[in-house]
Amino acid sequence: MYKVNENYLKLPGSYLFSTIAKKVAAFAEANPDKKIIRLGIGDVTQPLTPPIIAALHSAVDEMASAETFRGYAPDLGYAFLRETIAREDFAARGCEIYADEIFVSDGAKSDSGNIQELFDGSCRIAVCDPVYPVYVDSNVMAGRTGTYDAATGYWSDVIYMPCTEANGFVAELPKERPDIIYLCFPNNPTGAAIRRDELQRWVDYANENGCVIIYDAAYEAYISEENVPHSVYECEGARSCAIEIRSFSKNAGFTGVRLGYTVVPKDLKCGNASLHDMWARRHGTKYNGAPYIMQKAGEACYTEEGRKSIRGLVEFYMKNARTIYDGLKDMGYTVYGGVNSPYIWLKTPDGMTSWEFFDYLLERANVVGTPGSGFGPNGEGFFRLTAFGSYENSLAALERIRSL
Ligand code: MLT
Repeated sequence: MYKVNENYLKLPGSYLFSTIAKKVAAFAEANPDKKIIRLGIGDVTQPLTPPIIAALHSAVDEMASAETFRGYAPDLGYAFLRETIAREDFAARGCEIYADEIFVSDGAKSDSGNIQELFDGSCRIAVCDPVYPVYVDSNVMAGRTGTYDAATGYWSDVIYMPCTEANGFVAELPKERPDIIYLCFPNNPTGAAIRRDELQRWVDYANENGCVIIYDAAYEAYISEENVPHSVYECEGARSCAIEIRSFSKNAGFTGVRLGYTVVPKDLKCGNASLHDMWARRHGTKYNGAPYIMQKAGEACYTEEGRKSIRGLVEFYMKNARTIYDGLKDMGYTVYGGVNSPYIWLKTPDGMTSWEFFDYLLERANVVGTPGSGFGPNGEGFFRLTAFGSYENSLAALERIRSL
């Protein structure tokens, strides 16, 4: 008899957002008359913008003619997109990142789940607590974690870095030395941002201690404050210790069409092993490239019109974020996030657990959010609302919460 990868069997329950979707579906089935407002998963609701749609249409037309038809995309991405990204996302911010260090993919979620393949099974990971579940779960699947303690919610052999009200949800440097450090800023789920000098400390720590930082910058477009870095490569020395993951989902609304990229600088070496070459090898073997039409849509995000339209989307969602943040504060809630992030992180009222508040909101207000404890033990007593709904629904959700 064959054997399965038993690491999968260690994973408790289902993926957080699948659990929530099942609970909401059951509630909707039992209460067909209720209009549910979904501010749970960070999925966008606004349509793709006209410049993106125009680029898609034109690329689809190219596929209809033998002269312009494209088959397999280059597995690392088309040069037109990688060069544009290098110029617009990095050179324009003074970061030294080259087109051939950019790997175009089908999104940040796959990259953040797959990147751990580059590292030995004995490597110890450090994650923020609370944390985007993909970082931990993908390492569990790979056997890089020990056992799960249901009583504490922690895995053995994982270094957890608490993100609390006391530290402004920005973790302190770990006391034990990890090999791989996952950081996400602006943060999912807390909405916290990191200052440039704080991030520089992480980069210095990684270089001094032989660690690699996996920097998830999927929410970079939401940064509104000056001293918040858009890329880890704004820090000196990051080329030799950091991988950065980016997404077109949250800025341009590509959640349903999929496009992202990962930067692996050529200076990132472990002895003689080049992580860049290893990731290239992986891409070549396991991936046939993001679709041409999506890469053309990605390129359109950087034209003047494209940029303007995307800024419009971000402003739209940030108006929701401000509305939810101010509204909750006005009702007496303790609220965080929402300034450099589309996520609002609130303290549950009256000592309710995160899941109690989830049920309470769903049943009494028909509003869906995400329980903070689903992201880790330090998320207990917190709750995440997203600004990715419509303005009307953001207002309506607030009114329903106010009337509880
Ligand atoms: C979230 O709600 O945390 C995000 O939608 C997850 C994701 O982007 O994969």
